[in-house]
Amino acid sequence: MQNSEYSFEVQELNFYYGSFQALIDININIKPRSVTALIGPSGCGKSTFLRCLNRMNDTISGARVEGKILLDGEDIYAPDVDLTDLRKRVGMVFQKPNPFAKSIFDNVAFGPRVQGLITDKKQLEELVVTSLENAALWDDVKDSLDDDALGLSLGQQQRLCIARVLAVEPDVILMDEPASALDPIATRKIEELIAVLKENYTIVIVTHNMQQAARVSEETGLFWLGELVEFSLTEEMFTRPEKKLTEDYITGRMG
Ligand SMILES: Nc1ncnc2c1ncn2[C@@H]1O[C@H](COP(=O)(O)OP(=O)(O)OP(=O)(O)O)[C@@H](O)[C@H]1O
Ligand SMILES: [Mg+2]
Repeated sequence: MQNSEYSFEVQELNFYYGSFQALIDININIKPRSVTALIGPSGCGKSTFLRCLNRMNDTISGARVEGKILLDGEDIYAPDVDLTDLRKRVGMVFQKPNPFAKSIFDNVAFGPRVQGLITDKKQLEELVVTSLENAALWDDVKDSLDDDALGLSLGQQQRLCIARVLAVEPDVILMDEPASALDPIATRKIEELIAVLKENYTIVIVTHNMQQAARVSEETGLFWLGELVEFSLTEEMFTRPEKKLTEDYITGRMG
């Protein structure tokens, strides 16, 4: 791994679904161990951009990427990149919690088992416990690890999905509107968790909630019709936006 100042360096990124260009000339550097928020109206390319960061768009037929995305200085679209390894390093949490119809334990143990790195039962148990602790879910589930994950509340399911990502020891966690399906209390728990996780992980979060972006992130990017129109320190974006469009959007006059 090269020593680079940024976790991701995105250079001249263009993305197409067939003939439709969903991302236009995106340039952005994402700091390590920090939270970067992406905001913008529906359909402006936020999820598309997020999926470019771990090549989840690869499976969409007709999808095409131009430009460069470096992760710790290395081109993630280079021909020799191992996609399994990339997606282990760059985990993803979705809007709707998507636990497997398995026990709580087996959900968290899933990644490490698939990777086959841990065969020792005790070691696996320790990893599951640590991951649940780090996802702030351990206290809720320590007496019910064998229960069906689908019996958890939505907020707990989302923290379980975060534990599942943590168990494969990623560097980056991508979150696509991770709290938008949750009630205010569960949302607050996710935000508190993000504040702790950023000590050790690079986090990129898409949110429609401007207050949430302001609360959780160090830097914020505003997407608009496929372009990154402004990228600034969050505090500056929400107090002294550079562009009129940004001001109109964050004050609710547009979008
Ligand atoms: N699989 C796909 N095939 C074709 N077009 C797509 C596909 N996924 C997204 N798009 C289009 O690309 C554009 C960007 O979509 P994207 O989902 O990235 O937006 P978004 O900013 O995440 O929106 P939202 O806030 O609603 O989640 C939209 O015009 C959308 O219709
Ligand atoms: Mg989206």
